Amino acid sequence: MAPATAHRSESMRAFLAIVTLVVMAVAAPTMAAQKVELSIDASKPGAKVDRNLFGQFAEHLGHGIYDGIWVGSDSTIPNTRGIRNDVVAALKAIQVPNVRWPGGCFADEYHWRDGIGPQRAVRLNPNWGGVIEPNTFGTHEFMDFIDQIGSAAYVSVNLGSGSPKEAADWLEYMTAAQATTLEKERAANGHPAPYKVAWLGLGNESWDCGGNMTPEYYLDRMKIFSHFVRNYNPAQTEQNQMLKIAVGPGGGEQRWTDWTETVMKAYQQHTWSWDISGLSMHSYTVVKWPPAFKSVGFGEDEYAQILKATLEMDDLIKKHSAIMDKYDPQKKVALVVDEWGGWYAPLPGSNPGFLVQQNSLRDAILAALNINIFARHADRVRGANIAQMINVLQAMILTDHEKMVLTPTYYVYKMYVPFQDSTFVPVTFDAGSYKHGDFALPRVDAMAAKSKDGKLWVEITNVDPKQAAEVELNVSGINVKSASGETLTAPKVDSVNTFEAPNSVVPKPISAKAQGGKLILQLEPKSVTVVSVEQ
Ligand code: AHR
Repeated sequence: MAPATAHRSESMRAFLAIVTLVVMAVAAPTMAAQKVELSIDASKPGAKVDRNLFGQFAEHLGHGIYDGIWVGSDSTIPNTRGIRNDVVAALKAIQVPNVRWPGGCFADEYHWRDGIGPQRAVRLNPNWGGVIEPNTFGTHEFMDFIDQIGSAAYVSVNLGSGSPKEAADWLEYMTAAQATTLEKERAANGHPAPYKVAWLGLGNESWDCGGNMTPEYYLDRMKIFSHFVRNYNPAQTEQNQMLKIAVGPGGGEQRWTDWTETVMKAYQQHTWSWDISGLSMHSYTVVKWPPAFKSVGFGEDEYAQILKATLEMDDLIKKHSAIMDKYDPQKKVALVVDEWGGWYAPLPGSNPGFLVQQNSLRDAILAALNINIFARHADRVRGANIAQMINVLQAMILTDHEKMVLTPTYYVYKMYVPFQDSTFVPVTFDAGSYKHGDFALPRVDAMAAKSKDGKLWVEITNVDPKQAAEVELNVSGINVKSASGETLTAPKVDSVNTFEAPNSVVPKPISAKAQGGKLILQLEPKSVTVVSVEQ
């Protein structure tokens, strides 16, 4: 038993603690919602927000393809010709405009003949864990998948370890309508009609895993591929022409600005025999290399730091757009951010080569911030592919055998569907500042656009994890009557959806009616909101 004096001092300590808590509670300021005035000028429409900004990327990497998309037709997991039905249904709902395939680094070691016909070559995947690549998912399976989800093919050809002839043959195999040997082979393999290849990637990161080339060497090689790798599909002429995307920068340092200069300068002087429609750019939100930030189980420090870092996308686009403007003032060549997203430490216990990470509310906010940046540069940025679609990096979907869960990022893509092929509308607001430790970033972000049916849509991100935002929506010259849509938030910055608890981060309805001529939306802290506005 404790002596009486000790007992008395313990009671005293408990009493003092309670008094302190009561005083703190009384003294603590109630976090008033931050007031934000949002002015939209719908009479000044801007560039088209190309639906291809919402593109996806699926590489032969970890469980991105195998288990994520492909389970094989004899699987007990419901499938159509080997492709998971649950995944197809989920992807249809976000209206994926294009899927970039087969890589990534994988693309520059991929030989298309390994993945056609009844006998598939079994190889290794040296980039991603050195595992067996069975090639059961090849050209026909990819095209079937694209068709099932209602998307378009963005095929990256092997410019690193392959030859121009190999790539030219692949395109002829896929797209020829006339009775060539390759066309007949495709028909014999089950697809008499030519496939459409909407986008063609001329290599991947040729400055690194794609062959460690100098810009000059890449340019020489790229011109050869651009000339000889032809699309023969008779439906792909004029407006429907295949877009050829050259390898572009992977950062903002001089090495990358030199790369953009070299390719764009050559483009300015290009002749009839080669052409490009886009320059790719890769930019991940990593902060530290190798990736060390946790994808779940983190706090406000990591939240603020990652979101601050992701906003660098804006400067990066400005930097490379300025170089492109010098050589292509008419903006014929698109900047295509065909790899982007949060890249964190692999989940403990996972194969580090499989790039497995969770996807939290922070990623939803990261996605919204980046999409808004792309939309603000829509005159130059006409394509973007988040990395990667399933089970890899900042994924839309996670699977584990028969289980599937949709991530917070997935829901952002779903909420943004109305912005696909919309017309950008300028929006002005004072973003204020959210500060945490050494990090200060805009407290709110917003964008607006008119969808194809003429409706006005507004997105508002409240970055502040503690303070709500009270947003007054003003549309110039118009009495706004109401707004309704969806908002996405969760209890914590690192809230995630799991197979056991799939609905921790899901959108819920939000609406507001004008009162006294004002339309006010109450937004929760750390939230992404998309509403349509009724006038
Ligand atoms: O997305 C993972 C890898 O990141 C890709 O294969 C490569 O292009 C990039 O470095």
